[in-house]
Amino acid sequence: MDTTPAAAGAGDPIAAATTARLVPVVVLDDAAHAAPLADALAAGGLPVAEVTFRTPAAADAVRAMTDRGGVLVGAGTVLTARQVDEAVAAGARFVVSPGLSRAVVERCREHGVAVLPGAVTATEVQAALELGLEVLKFFPAATSGGPAAIAALGAPFPGVRFVPTGGIGPDDLARYLALPAVAAVGGSWMVPRDRIAAGDFAAVTRLTADAVARVAAA
Ligand code: 3PG
Repeated sequence: MDTTPAAAGAGDPIAAATTARLVPVVVLDDAAHAAPLADALAAGGLPVAEVTFRTPAAADAVRAMTDRGGVLVGAGTVLTARQVDEAVAAGARFVVSPGLSRAVVERCREHGVAVLPGAVTATEVQAALELGLEVLKFFPAATSGGPAAIAALGAPFPGVRFVPTGGIGPDDLARYLALPAVAAVGGSWMVPRDRIAAGDFAAVTRLTADAVARVAAA
């Protein structure tokens, strides 16, 4: 049986994307880098990617990675309903937002695509719960209180699980992953934009494999 996140994504893509407990947050300036990046992530043991809609190349990059296969591809930094449409048309299996937007969540529902919006305060978490969402991005994690803030939110919201992202590096992983409320940790340190732009995919594989090993040890 194929137990990779890409295969598992056929069920619940958010659950599949967090299975490895790491979500690489990718900024691609050139869609031609998407396929080798997918291969580099897979070679590092992490066949998942959140491709951020921060560059004009994002939709083509999602399409290229999806066509490549073997990697569960989501769209990140999705701020508008129109971007949801673009992400879904490109093949994104899940949609990530930095904050909680009802318009984005509702458009995702219309498309039947999984959504992972951000929330960092009790008010935002309650608003997400009212929308029926229990797995939330926690962004920007480091400046929003880090592990201590997530632990504190876990008390009133025991059913909520977070994907902290933003300002997290490999040395922070263990502290976040030790929290029961943390489903996975997201970050860009495994996929440095300058290394990708330079075509240094070996660096991506190396950094990814290091992160995967740290998760295993955590
Ligand atoms: C995101 O969109 O999740 C963040 O920009 C990733 O944060 P990082 O670059 O600090 O890891």
